[in-house]
Amino acid sequence: MKWLCVVSMLSGLAISPAFAQETPIAQGIHAQQRDVFVSNLMKQMTLEEKIGQLRLISVGPDNPKEAIRDGISKGQIGAIFNTVTRPDIRAMQDQAMQLSRLKIPLFFAYDVVHGQRTVFPISLGLAASFDLEAIALSGRVAAQEASDDGLNMTFAPMVDITRDPRWGRVSEGFGEDTWLVSKIAKVMVDAYQNGDPSKPGSVMASVKHFALYGATEGGRDYNTVDMSPLRMHQDYLPPYKAAVDAGSGGVMVSLNSINGIPATANPWLLKELLRDQWGFKGITISDHGAIKELIKHGVAEDARDAVRLAITSGVDMSMSDEYYDKYLPGLVKDGLVSESEIDRACRDVLNTKYDMGLFKDPYTHLGPVGSDPQDTNAESRLHRAEARVVARKTLVLLKNDKHTLPLSKQATIALVGPMADSQRDVMGSWSAAGVAKQSVTLREGLERAVGDKAQILYAKGANVTQDKSIIDYLNEYEPAVAFDTRPPQQMIDEAVQAANKADVVVAVVGESQGMAHEASSRADITIPQSQRDLIAALKATGKPLVLVLMNGRPLALSWESQQADAMLETWYSGTEGGNAVADVLFGDYNPSGKLPMTFPRSVGQIPLYYNHLNTGRPFGKENPGKYTSRYFDSPNGPLYPFGYGLSYTTFSLSGLTLSSPSLARNGKITASVTLKNTGKYDGAAVVQLYLQDVTASVSRPVKELRNFKKVMLKAGQSQRVELPVTEDDLKFYNASLKWGAEPGKFNVFVGLDSDNVQAQSFTLK
Ligand code: BGC
Repeated sequence: MKWLCVVSMLSGLAISPAFAQETPIAQGIHAQQRDVFVSNLMKQMTLEEKIGQLRLISVGPDNPKEAIRDGISKGQIGAIFNTVTRPDIRAMQDQAMQLSRLKIPLFFAYDVVHGQRTVFPISLGLAASFDLEAIALSGRVAAQEASDDGLNMTFAPMVDITRDPRWGRVSEGFGEDTWLVSKIAKVMVDAYQNGDPSKPGSVMASVKHFALYGATEGGRDYNTVDMSPLRMHQDYLPPYKAAVDAGSGGVMVSLNSINGIPATANPWLLKELLRDQWGFKGITISDHGAIKELIKHGVAEDARDAVRLAITSGVDMSMSDEYYDKYLPGLVKDGLVSESEIDRACRDVLNTKYDMGLFKDPYTHLGPVGSDPQDTNAESRLHRAEARVVARKTLVLLKNDKHTLPLSKQATIALVGPMADSQRDVMGSWSAAGVAKQSVTLREGLERAVGDKAQILYAKGANVTQDKSIIDYLNEYEPAVAFDTRPPQQMIDEAVQAANKADVVVAVVGESQGMAHEASSRADITIPQSQRDLIAALKATGKPLVLVLMNGRPLALSWESQQADAMLETWYSGTEGGNAVADVLFGDYNPSGKLPMTFPRSVGQIPLYYNHLNTGRPFGKENPGKYTSRYFDSPNGPLYPFGYGLSYTTFSLSGLTLSSPSLARNGKITASVTLKNTGKYDGAAVVQLYLQDVTASVSRPVKELRNFKKVMLKAGQSQRVELPVTEDDLKFYNASLKWGAEPGKFNVFVGLDSDNVQAQSFTLK
């Protein structure tokens, strides 16, 4: 493999360290110059032009290009989203610069969530890498490609904490752990903005969905969120704050309500918390259609009232706006919205454009006329090597009995399953400007890896589901799922025939990408029956059975884990997915991914997350007892815990010690443990450190991740691994929402997942 040249290619995409440390936007002299510039500009603007700046518009059936052109020329549009090629963006910017009275440039935004043209693994997969550098690399490449397409902003990172795998959007976020997601939030903002969102190669981040969208009741999309202030501050808000602290230029407001008040009409959220307490200075953007949804939420009488509520609550820009321009002038005239409220929002938008460098050069990311690529989808514009390097790190080995994996490249392999040869599925949802025909399926990856040394016998084996109503649902907006009309048994027979001729069976099963998306909540998180029938038939052949899972959420895999000899979780691994999975299946890369969300045994256990509070009657594995917090009709605890993932080698952890039995305020102690590679392959382990505050003024979680180190060891090698603990790691919100560490006893747990750990303890004075 040519990984050496990958490294040199990557160096051009590194995060500029001089900038990564500090908040890039609006500081010092820059902020003063900006204020003067924007104030002067606003003096020349009419009320209508100011309102125009607050409208974020997308081309679509209701909004043809001609209508947009008209709106741009009249100064009625502030920014555009969903336009993603340089020629299209240039044409619109030309209209603003040539036809509008004040020549205020537009900005261009898009959902670049896990890649732009080169699609990286979905965010949940990225989190599974437990590798912040790899995650940063995916963000840098995405920003570079988005900027090369002329974009100025991405609606990302999505940092909603997710503890309910029924919610399809868990695929877009980084999982259940507040500490880990907060780290990634900063990494992603730094990667996108790279110190200065105006520079070619950078885009402004707009963190979403503010706030608490991941906690929708029952995992049903758009549903209500009702949450105690303590849980909110402790568990759900920190990742957004981490993104804001890292300088995210934008914040997208969530669609849900929070304790009865929709986020879009929530001045506590958007003014008090975000602006006054967190000091956010950028723009807030409503989510798609969220303003008119205030009527259905039951807090606005009509569209006019909804507009009044949104703007006075602190929503600057209206996404897919239908009503800001229609109603704001009248609301101002009638004294229901003050002009200063419009000025405040308009100033935020103009400041943002200033920070994007658009007043200096409206074509900053576009480059000169004539520089546009001849072929937007040219292969040369992709970053395949980077995508493969990152994707390999995101794969999680869940089971590997009898050394079924890695596979021999000389074997005859039956490759079956509805996702085995699906270019659309491997990209995952929100695949931005990625082109399905450029993505590598498992079939292609495996065939390439073995060349003419082995035979791959492919059969589809099953449809993702036989339920036509679900297929229709998945195909409503794009022809995403190809439905095979042959009788299911015929497809299974074909797969069994292939299996009978093979040494090993690889079945690619799970969910098609549209099942793990916005508006894709599931009441049942098992693999659909059509695929289970296939798995059962393959199992009956007696051939070693490898399940390669493609899914965007934790699935309930109790039955599958009994059928399979090996299981590899691959999420949706992106443009280079098939190659990356082949690297792992054949042992060219030893898997090291870890689960960023708990995998429950059944849907009935949800919510199930590792960092829960204790109860007064905790369930204990050793001595379960009747009157304990448990289900009597199911084994308790997860099928696979947070932080879990195997390797082709084995590791042992021993001799956990602390450098001191007590930690001084502002001091540091170090946990040390010996990690040994006890197997036959070189490989990487993720040593995880969890803390527990044993007694505090409020109940604290049974354990919380506070540090980890990914350590590469050669077969037989051992190393002492050190993980520091400081007072900051012990801090939490008390009942009065004060942040601090309380004295007393703390447990330190170190393990290779969140469940199997060694313990020590110390005190804080
Ligand atoms: C989603 C957002 C997304 C927006 C624009 C909405 O439906 O909730 O996450 O950024 O659409 O595409």
